[in-house]
Amino acid sequence: MVAIVTGGARGIGAATARRLAADGMAVAVIDLDEAGCRTTVDAIKEAGGSAIGVGADVSDADAVAAAVERVVAELGTPAVLVNNAGVIRDNLLFKMTDSDWDTVMSVHLRGAFLMTRAVQAHMVEAKYGRIVNLSSTSALGNRGQANYAAAKAGLQGFTKTLAIELGPFGITANAVAPGFIVTEMTQATAERMGVDFEAFQAARAKETPVRRPGYPADIAHTISFLASEGAGFVTGQVIYVAGGPRG
Ligand SMILES: NC(=O)c1ccc[n+]([C@@H]2O[C@H](COP(=O)([O-])OP(=O)(O)OC[C@H]3O[C@@H](n4cnc5c(N)ncnc54)[C@H](O)[C@@H]3O)[C@@H](O)[C@H]2O)c1
Repeated sequence: MVAIVTGGARGIGAATARRLAADGMAVAVIDLDEAGCRTTVDAIKEAGGSAIGVGADVSDADAVAAAVERVVAELGTPAVLVNNAGVIRDNLLFKMTDSDWDTVMSVHLRGAFLMTRAVQAHMVEAKYGRIVNLSSTSALGNRGQANYAAAKAGLQGFTKTLAIELGPFGITANAVAPGFIVTEMTQATAERMGVDFEAFQAARAKETPVRRPGYPADIAHTISFLASEGAGFVTGQVIYVAGGPRG
């Protein structure tokens, strides 16, 4: 089975790519530049798995078409697609620029749309597919993230519609909505706020029912379940993986 993970060079995407490879899938790691995918691809190969790195900006239609074609040619028909690539451009609304808004919409929403449209053609033909989109607890609203919250809530509507349209073809679509996860994305947020990352993690852990921050492996584990054949009756769902009901 072949899986595609976007934004797989680091963080949640890298952990997911490694996990799906450990589950026995050949993984295409897509990220902005191919060289950036090397660490993840090498880790998979060292563990005995199979992977390729593909450079593509998921918000660029031509790049997406070329990337998916390459995956099909080199690995075969994709059975799993994880739309994980993401960026943040946090700002309070009155300071948020047009570009802050457009960049976040482009990568999360347009990116997931372009990737899914390109990949579903192959899944429909194969009458099988598992699509997992990365939402966030920010979809419920988060100060300084009007753009990101709108995109992550948008991905939930996108997911539910995919479930309805693609279900008849043996394809499921679900969203995973992580709470606070320790990655370079949240490290950058701490730095921007002038807070020590360890202290930032401790503060978030304190307000989380399970009293710890989340790690990329927590998200990869849930994605692994949704990507499995046995999860074929679970579709159109949003699973919050946040150490509590609301993160
Ligand atoms: N870290 C968290 O706390 C958290 C919480 C909820 C949701 N998420 C979501 O999970 C996903 C992964 O987050 P992360 O923390 O691992 O982030 P990260 O910043 O560590 O990694 C994101 C990856 O996406 C890649 N990327 C960015 N724009 C791209 C584009 N246009 N085309 C291709 N690749 C692109 C980056 O190069 C990077 O490798 C994102 O969608 C994020 O919004 C993260």
